[in-house]
Formats: sequence, C-alpha cells, structure tokens
Amino acid sequence: MMIEKSGTIRLRDIPTTTRLTQEEQELAAGMVRVTHLYRSALKVAVTQMEILDEEFARLYDHSPIHHIEYRIKTLDSIIDKLHRRGLEVNIDNIYAHIQDVAGIRVICNYLDDIYYLRSLLTRSESYTVIREVDYIKAPKETGYRSLHLIVNVPIVISEGTMVLPVEIQLRTIAMDMWASLEHELRYKSDRQFTEQDAARLRLCSDAISEIDREMQDIYQGNEPKYHA
Ligand code: GTP
Ligand code: MG
Repeated sequence: MMIEKSGTIRLRDIPTTTRLTQEEQELAAGMVRVTHLYRSALKVAVTQMEILDEEFARLYDHSPIHHIEYRIKTLDSIIDKLHRRGLEVNIDNIYAHIQDVAGIRVICNYLDDIYYLRSLLTRSESYTVIREVDYIKAPKETGYRSLHLIVNVPIVISEGTMVLPVEIQLRTIAMDMWASLEHELRYKSDRQFTEQDAARLRLCSDAISEIDREMQDIYQGNEPKYHA
C-alpha cells in the first residue's frame, strides 16, 4: 500500500474489500454536515433554556431547571430508526423523518416548572413547536412520564438561516429517576425482566407522580390534601 508524504493513504491503494461504495462515501460526507448542523441547533436550544432559567432565577429567586442533558443521535441509532420505519438510509430521509437527531433533556425541579418552560417556548416567535406529546397528562403504558416537544430551532450559518428540529424532553427529577432506572432494569440488567417487574414499575410511577404533586404543594405553601 502506498502512503503519500503527508501520511494519508490514497483511496486507490486501499484494498477493494475495504473501499466504501459511492453511496457510502456520499452518506459519510453528508453525515459530517448533518452532525455539524444538528450540533449547532443543539447548542442554540441548550443556551436558550439556560437563558430562561437564569432570567427566572433573577426575577423570582427560583431556578426552574435542575440540570440539562443533551446528545446527538449516533449514526447507528439513526440507521436503526430508518430501517424500523422501512426507509432507505440517505441524508434526505434523515432530514425528513428523524426529528430527534438533536435531543435535549431538561430536568426540572417542580412539576409547574415544566409547564412554565413549555409556555415560554410555545409563545416565542423564534421557536415553533411542531409536535407535542404530554406523557405526564397521559403516561405511557410502561408508566413513563415526561413532556415531549419537537421544536424548530433556527441557526445562522454561512448560507443563511436554517431551521432544524430539536427534541426537548421536559421532566422532574423524580420522573428522571424513574425513567433512568426503568431503562436500566428493562434493557441493561442481567436478570430477566418480568411482567411483575413491569407492574411494580407502573406502581412506582404512580407513587412518584403523587410525590411530585405533594412537593409542588409544599413549595407553594398549599394545605396538605390529607392529614398524616
Ligand atoms: P422514537 O422516537 O422512535 O423512539 O419513537 P416515538 O417518537 O414514538 O417515541 P417517543 O418520542 O414517545 O419516545 C422517545 C424517547 O422517550 C425515548 O428515546 C426515551 O428517551 C423516552 N421514552 C419513551 N418511552 C419510554 C419508556 O417507557 N421508558 C423510558 N425509560 N423512556 C422512555
Ligand atoms: Mg420520538
């Protein structure tokens, strides 16, 4: 194999079996751009949430956000998702069909903080909420609770302004605790995940929902709904 002075390997010198097809090369090149653009949208969304958090803290002496997590979907997960939906793996289909390439998870202190942040985002002219699923009002079959928003986020790049979707999951610390452990138990644990486990997790989710409401009431100084 010939190695040029710069140390780079010339494509024609790579054995044919390891050479990428034309399509694969295009996908790889396209992915570099996709990753860059979605990473930019992710940064804008995270910064915007932090700005709202800081402003609220200044005005009302309370931070709605406990912390923020974020990630870019891996190429493997993107490919899996396209396959699951019976779609061809190409750049156009990523833009058109995958709305969670950029994902942020906003872990809030209290239940009301979630809806406060939601109302600010939905009122804003800069960000359009293109999809909303409220798994707090209507939890998933598993017991999963969170508010999911897909928000169109504008980014300014050399070619002009581009709008990209970002998935924003809003949840309380308690909901996040449940979701993390449920995921761990269901998919990562060595032992078999049983129907009974699933039923117990649904009960935990109900208990956590009660706790979130009670914590909210304590914070607001509301009378207890029951007397211990
Ligand atoms: P995908 O986006 O393809 O997963 O399908 P969807 O749009 O129908 O799913 P949805 O947007 O409702 O949920 C996607 C994300 O929510 C997942 O990647 C998880 O982060 C979270 N999620 C949804 N359901 C559950 C659940 O039952 N348990 C846990 N731990 N997380 C969940
Ligand atoms: Mg989704």
